[in-house]
Amino acid sequence: MLTGKLTRLRALEPSDAETLARWFDDPVVSRVMVGYPVSLAQVVKRCRERPRNTYGSLVLCIESLASGRALGVIALTGAEPESGWAELSIYLGDAEFRGGGYGTDAVRVLCRYGFDQMRLHGVHLLVAASNAGARHVYSKVGFVEEGRQRQRFHQDGEWHDSIMMSLLAGELGS
Ligand SMILES: CC(C)(COP(=O)(O)OP(=O)(O)OC[C@H]1O[C@@H](n2cnc3c(N)ncnc32)[C@H](O)[C@@H]1OP(=O)(O)O)[C@@H](O)C(=O)NCCC(=O)NCCS
Repeated sequence: MLTGKLTRLRALEPSDAETLARWFDDPVVSRVMVGYPVSLAQVVKRCRERPRNTYGSLVLCIESLASGRALGVIALTGAEPESGWAELSIYLGDAEFRGGGYGTDAVRVLCRYGFDQMRLHGVHLLVAASNAGARHVYSKVGFVEEGRQRQRFHQDGEWHDSIMMSLLAGELGS
């Protein structure tokens, strides 16, 4: 059900903690996570105590279908049956896999799950205006730009805009 052409999405395990802690040290990842540095002990604790996935908070590890290697994390959060909407976020923590089509595949798989199994009406997200690669991926999957939040985050000494994007059920490309 949660398998695509290149990736499989599965629940995060306590044994993923060291891998996650390594990824959090990568500035490309910490930039999108926007948070204070965390220790390995804190990541281990968080992984051990992680609540089970629910309709409102679905956080999954992205694995390479070919090798079974963990390569990133993808999430659908804030889903409510009343609104029919959820927010998508993703990062590939393993730099080796970036640019290989894995992110596009994982976004497609999770959106398909959101529409078919969770009966969502739409998925929305926020992406840095400067993140041309991510914006390209979301557009390729079918997301449409619907607005801009001005100077929403600070990075490398400058304020950057965020782009709001959304995908409606029926707009997901194959
Ligand atoms: C963004 C991310 C999820 C995309 O996943 P990915 O597996 O690297 O992306 P893919 O290989 O599936 O696709 C990359 C596409 O973007 C294009 N691309 C890459 N850099 C680009 C740029 N600067 N401008 C325009 N297009 C770009 C590639 O050519 C490719 O397009 P194509 O398939 O049409 O040739 C991943 O790179 C990542 O996690 N980056 C770091 C964290 C991050 O930015 N997360 C998103 C926060 S909103």
